[in-house]
Amino acid sequence: MDGMSTDNNHDGVDESRRTFMKATGAATAAAGLGATSTAAGDEKRSKRLEDLIDGMTIEQKVGQMAQVAIDNLGEGFGPDTAFNDHDDAGTLGKLFSELHVGSILNGGATGPTFDGEEFVEGLNGLQEYNLEVNEPAIPFVWGCDALHGNCLLDGCTSFPQRLNMGATRDVDLVEAAATHTGDSVAAIGGHWNFGPTLDVLRDMRWGRYFEGHSEDAMLLGEMGRARARGFQRNERVAATVKHFAGYGTPNTGSDRTHARTSMRDLRTRQFEPYRRGLEEAKTVMVNSGAVNGKPAHASSWLLTTVLRDRFGFDGVVLTDWDDFERMLSNHEYLPDTDDGWREAVRQGIEAGVDMHMCGGETAPTEFIDTVIDLVESGDLSEARIDESVRRILELKADLGLFADPLAPEDEIGDIVGGAADISEQLAKESLVLLQNEDDALPLALEDVDDLLLTGPGVHEGTPNRFLMQHGGWTLGWQGIEDGNLTEDGPRPRQNTIEGELTARLGDGLTHVPTEYEPAVYESLYENFDNGFFDVTDEQAAAISEAAPGSDAVVVVLGEGTHNEGFGDRDKMRFLEAQRELVELVDSETGDDVPIIGVILAGSPRGTAETFQHLDAVLFAGQPGSDTGVAVVDTLFGDYNPSGKLPFTWESHVGHVPQIYDEYPPRHPDGAGDQMVQFEFGHGLSYTDWEYVDLSLATDSVKNPASRPTVTAHVTVENAGETAGEHVVEIYNTESYGSVLQPHRRLMGFERIALEPGERETVAVDLDLSTLEVVPGDVPGWGPRVVEAGEYELAVGADWGVNASDDADDGATATLTVGKTASITDPEPTPGRYDIDGDGDEDFEDVMALHRRLKHRKWRR
Ligand code: BGC
Repeated sequence: MDGMSTDNNHDGVDESRRTFMKATGAATAAAGLGATSTAAGDEKRSKRLEDLIDGMTIEQKVGQMAQVAIDNLGEGFGPDTAFNDHDDAGTLGKLFSELHVGSILNGGATGPTFDGEEFVEGLNGLQEYNLEVNEPAIPFVWGCDALHGNCLLDGCTSFPQRLNMGATRDVDLVEAAATHTGDSVAAIGGHWNFGPTLDVLRDMRWGRYFEGHSEDAMLLGEMGRARARGFQRNERVAATVKHFAGYGTPNTGSDRTHARTSMRDLRTRQFEPYRRGLEEAKTVMVNSGAVNGKPAHASSWLLTTVLRDRFGFDGVVLTDWDDFERMLSNHEYLPDTDDGWREAVRQGIEAGVDMHMCGGETAPTEFIDTVIDLVESGDLSEARIDESVRRILELKADLGLFADPLAPEDEIGDIVGGAADISEQLAKESLVLLQNEDDALPLALEDVDDLLLTGPGVHEGTPNRFLMQHGGWTLGWQGIEDGNLTEDGPRPRQNTIEGELTARLGDGLTHVPTEYEPAVYESLYENFDNGFFDVTDEQAAAISEAAPGSDAVVVVLGEGTHNEGFGDRDKMRFLEAQRELVELVDSETGDDVPIIGVILAGSPRGTAETFQHLDAVLFAGQPGSDTGVAVVDTLFGDYNPSGKLPFTWESHVGHVPQIYDEYPPRHPDGAGDQMVQFEFGHGLSYTDWEYVDLSLATDSVKNPASRPTVTAHVTVENAGETAGEHVVEIYNTESYGSVLQPHRRLMGFERIALEPGERETVAVDLDLSTLEVVPGDVPGWGPRVVEAGEYELAVGADWGVNASDDADDGATATLTVGKTASITDPEPTPGRYDIDGDGDEDFEDVMALHRRLKHRKWRR
C-alpha cells in the first residue's frame, strides 16, 4: 500500500514477535512481501509472489481460496477448539495444519469473545499457531461484519445504522465513523470488514432495508466510497463493496431472491453505488440472489466482464455465505447432487470468484476437495486458480500481513466505546422530523411538568428492551444476543430515551413501558412482524391514569431488531398493539396535549391511520448508542432536526415501491397523495429555510466528458427564529432525451448551519454523471451518456405530493449540455459483441456477426 514500507512495519514489531516470526519461518514466506510504493518495489514483490505461488502445491493454493466461519460456538481461539459443526476437519487447528485455509471469519457480529483484549490476544495466538503449522507460512486474513461501528465488543460504540447515515447526507462525518470502525477492527487483530453495503434500496419489505443508506444511487455511492476509505484509512483493514450486484431490489421483497431490475436500470442505477465504492475498496462480495435469470455467483458477465474489465477492479472477489451451495438449494439452478455441487463450484470460479465463504452449510473440505478434483480432472485450469491465489496473497501483502502478521495488543483498550462525539452528532443529524402540527415540537422544558413516556424498547432493562435503537449486526446477528437478552450479557455503550428523559424531568416523568419480545429468528417466518408487541391491561390502565394530567406524551413505536431474510416483513403499518396504544393515548388526552410519536425502525414503519392521532412524528430509525441524547435533545429543541429521508415513504405496503427517481408517470395522475406519504428528501425543521437564488458557474457545458462537474451557487437564508443545520439538495427536475428521464434526480448536496436571520451563499458541486442514461431501444446495451439538451434544476422546492399549487417552487436554473457524451462509461458495453454468447468477444463473434448481416441482406 502506498507510503508504507516493510521496514516501517518492522519498526512496530516488538522483539518477541520478531523472534517468533523468525522462528516460525513466517519471515521466509514473507520475505519482500510488504506493501510497496514504487514501480521497482512492485516488480520485486510480484516476482516474490510468483516464486511463492510456484512453490505451492494445489492443496496449498486451494486452501488459500477457502474462508471458514468460526463463530461464538467455538468459545475460544485455541487450535484445539472445536470451532463449529460445519466441518469435518474437527478442530480449528487442523484448518491450518491440514487444509491450509487462508481466511477465517466471524459471521453475524459475534466472535469467540466480546472482550477486545481477549480478542486481539486470541487472534494473535491463532495467527502464531497458523504460521507455525501452515505450509508455507502464509498468514490468514480474518474478516468480520463491523457494519455500524465495531459492534463485536462489549461496550462498543454502535454508530447509527446505514439508513440513518443516509438521512444525514453528512459524508465527512460518516467517513469519520468508518475510520474509527476500521481502527477498532485492526486493533482486535482483524484485517477485513465486510462493508460498505451498497445495494440500492427500493422495497421496505426486505429484511435488510436498514442496511442500505438510500434509494438514490449517487447518495448511496458517495456514502459507500467515504465509508470504504474510512475503513481502510489505517492501511491494515480491507473494505468490501457488497453485494454485487442488484441484491437490494429483491423481486418478491424477500431476501436472496431474484432482482427486480432491467439492463437499463442495472447500468444506470444499480451498478452506480458499487462503482463509486470500488474506487476505494479492495474486495467485493457477490449478491446471493440472481439477476435477469442468472445467479450472480455464476455470472461471468457480472463478475468479470463488468467488474474487472469495465470497472478495472483487480482485488479479491468473495462469495457470500455458502453461496455455491445456494445455487442448488435456493435457486434450483443446478440439481442437488454431487455433480450439481461440483458444477456450481466450477461455474462460480470460472465466473470470477476468488474465495469461497464456507458458512454453516459448507464444510471447508467439501469446497477444497471439489476444487482440487476440478483441477486434477482438467475441468478448471490451474492458471485460473493461480490468478485467485495471486489476488489473495496480494491483498495480504497490501495489508502488511507478511511483514507483520500480529496486531499490537495495547490499542483496543482506548478505542472501545470511543468516538462518542461523532456518534452523537451523527445520531442527531439522522433524525427526520416527519410531521409537526401546530409546532407541537420542540417542547419547552419550562412548560412540561409532567410527561408520559410509553411504548416499547426505550430503557436499559431486559424487559422492554433497548434493542430497537440498535438493530441487527450489534453484538449478534439479529441484534444483541440475537434478541435473547440476558441481564449480564454484553451491551453497547448507550444512552436511552427513558434515561435521558429522566435526567431532564426527574419525577416529572411517568414511564409506562409496554411489552416487546424480539422475535428470535427461528420464529420470524411465523408472523413477518419483526417482534411481538403487546399492551397489558395493567399497562393500559396506567396509561389511562397518567395521560389526562400530562403536559405532553411521547409514544415510542416501531419494529423489533431483525436481520436478513428473518427480517422480511409484509407490513408498513404499525402492529395492532402499537396502533391501539396511540389511539388509547389520543382518547385519554385533551386537544391541547401534544402527542409525539418517535419511531425506532429500520424501514418506513407507520401509516396515516396512526399518524393522524399524533401531533408530531420523529422518524429516529436506529440511531445506536446515542439514541437517548439525540432524541431528547431534539424533543426539547436543544437540537434542531436536519435529517432528510433517504427513501420514499409509501402510504401503504401495497404501493411499494414508489421510488422518487422512477420514470414518469410515477403514479397515475392525481393518485400521488394516496400512494406516497413522505417524499424522498422530506424532513422538517424548527426554523424556515428560504432559497433566494440559484446560479451556475456555467450555464452551458459543451462536453460533459471533459467537464463532469458544475458548481452551483445558491443563497440560503435561515428565515426563522431558531439556529439550525440544513441540507441543501439540488435536483434535475425536467429534461427530455431519446429515452425516459427519471421523474427527479439528485445531482448534489451540501450540509450547512446558520443562525437565525443569517444568509449564506452555498457552493454545491453538481455531478453531471447523475444525468447519464442509456439511449437506444429496449435492450439498453448502448453506452451511458449525458444527452445534449436542456436540464431544469431546482433547489428548495416543496416536493411533497400534497404540496398546494402555491407551494414553494424554490429557486431554479437551466443547464444546457452541448454534446452527447459519456462520463463514466466511455467504452462500448461489455458483452454487447458476444454474438455467439460464449462469454468471450472474439474472432468467432466477428464471424457470427458477418453471417447474420449476410443473411439479412439475402432476405431483403
Ligand atoms: C451476509 C453478508 C455477511 C456475511 C458474513 C451473510 O449472511 O449476507 O452480508 O457479510 O453473512 O457474516
